[in-house]
Amino acid sequence: MSGSAPLSARGLTVSFGRTEALRGVDLDVEAGEVLAVMGPSGSGKSTLLHALAGVIVPDSGTVSLGDTVISDLPEPARAQLRLREFGFVFQFGQLLPDLTALDNVTLPLLLTGHSRRRARRQAASWLERLGVADTRDQVPSEVSGGQAQRIAIARALVTGPRVVFADEPTGSLDSLAAESVMTTLTDLARDTGATIVVVTHDPRTAAHADREVVVRDGRIGGRTGGGARGEAGGEAGCPAGDDADRAPRRPVVRTRA
Ligand SMILES: Nc1ncnc2c1ncn2[C@@H]1O[C@H](COP(=O)(O)OP(=O)(O)OP(=O)(O)O)[C@@H](O)[C@H]1O
Ligand SMILES: [Mg+2]
Repeated sequence: MSGSAPLSARGLTVSFGRTEALRGVDLDVEAGEVLAVMGPSGSGKSTLLHALAGVIVPDSGTVSLGDTVISDLPEPARAQLRLREFGFVFQFGQLLPDLTALDNVTLPLLLTGHSRRRARRQAASWLERLGVADTRDQVPSEVSGGQAQRIAIARALVTGPRVVFADEPTGSLDSLAAESVMTTLTDLARDTGATIVVVTHDPRTAAHADREVVVRDGRIGGRTGGGARGEAGGEAGCPAGDDADRAPRRPVVRTRA
C-alpha cells in the first residue's frame, strides 16, 4: 500500500484557454506527509490540487499514485480511484444540503459497496471522532461552519483514503475554529497514516504541515519571502506561546527552494 512517494507529479502543465495555470510542476508527496500548498490567489494552487487528485487531466506531464499513472486513466477509472483512495475537503464543506450529517458521511461507504447497516455504524463513529456526534440528524444548514467542516472531514476520512485533498478547509472559519479543525484533521490523518495535501493562504493552517511548497505563477518554488511563516513567525497574530502547543509530532521541514 504505502511507498516512499505515493503521489508524484512530473512536468505538469494545465491551460485554460490562453491562461497557463500550471507551467511545469514537479512534486513528490511522501506517504503520511502533511503538505501545505501556499501561494498568491490565481497562482494555480487549486488547479494543482485538481490535477493531483485526477479531477482534471493535465495537458502534459504525469501524476502517479504509487505505480498507477492517474493521468493516463480514463475518467471512469479516475472516478473510482477518487472514491476509493482519496478524500476531499473544500472551503465550504460541500455537504449535500438535503442529507443529514450521518447520511452525508454514510454516502461514500454506500458508494464503495458497504452494507447500509455497516456504513451507518462506521459513519456514526467518525462523527463521534470528529466531536460532532450530536449533529447526526441535522442537515448542513442547521450546523455551524466549524461543525460543517468537521462533518466534511468525517466524510473525507470515512473510507480510509490514502490521500486527503483539502482546498482552503479553514477559509470560512474564524481563527479558533480554524485552529481546532486543522488540529483534528492532521491528528486523524496521522493516526490513520493518510497523506494530506492542503491548500491554504493561512500561515497558521500551514503551520500544521510537515512541509510547505509555494506555487507562484503556475510553478512550484521561487522565493517564499515573508508570505508564509518566513518573516511573520510569532508576530502576525500568532503568539509564540501558541506555537509550542501546536508543535507537530514530527520534525517540520520548511521548503525554501
Ligand atoms: N475552470 C477554469 N476556467 C478558466 N480559467 C481557470 C479555471 N480554473 C482556473 N483558471 C485560471 O487558472 C489560474 C489558476 O487558478 P487557480 O484556481 O488554480 O488559482 P488558486 O491559486 O487556487 O487561486 P485562489 O487562491 O484564488 O483560489 C487563474 O488564472 C484562474 O483564473
Ligand atoms: Mg484556489
